[in-house]
Amino acid sequence: MAAGMPAGALAQASPEPTPERQRSLVRVVRQDCGSCHGMRLTGGLGPPLTREALADKPADSMAATIFHGRPGTPMPAWRSLLSEADAMWIAQSLLQGFPEESRLTNP
Ligand code: HEC
Repeated sequence: MAAGMPAGALAQASPEPTPERQRSLVRVVRQDCGSCHGMRLTGGLGPPLTREALADKPADSMAATIFHGRPGTPMPAWRSLLSEADAMWIAQSLLQGFPEESRLTNP
């Protein structure tokens, strides 16, 4: 339904994921994204996703990369697993330095 809209507009229209959902997103990123981007997100097959590495990237274009993937590269689309709001939350969290699983599971 939202296909073709810019990611920024989608993000504003989407509510932030609930704290429970945020916890499972941290797990997804650490495990599924970590298989390519490194368990510490410092890079592997995919580029590093650390705060330093992403400093000059806009959150909405990163969210679009996560949601739609990058055709012609190994970066897959995550739209079957993640909502646009999830992708935007992950992008923003990566830009701030991604939380450790333990920090969210044992507050
Ligand atoms: C199968 C391997 C693979 C998996 C799994 C994967 N990625 Fe990627 N990702 C890549 C590659 C390769 C690139 C670089 C694409 C390119 O060359 O432009 C990339 C690029 C990116 C970028 C853009 C980085 C930049 O510097 O612009 C982001 C953001 C990103 N991935 C986030 C994620 C997230 C979040 C997940 C998990 C939901 C994920 N990726 C899972 C391989 C992967």
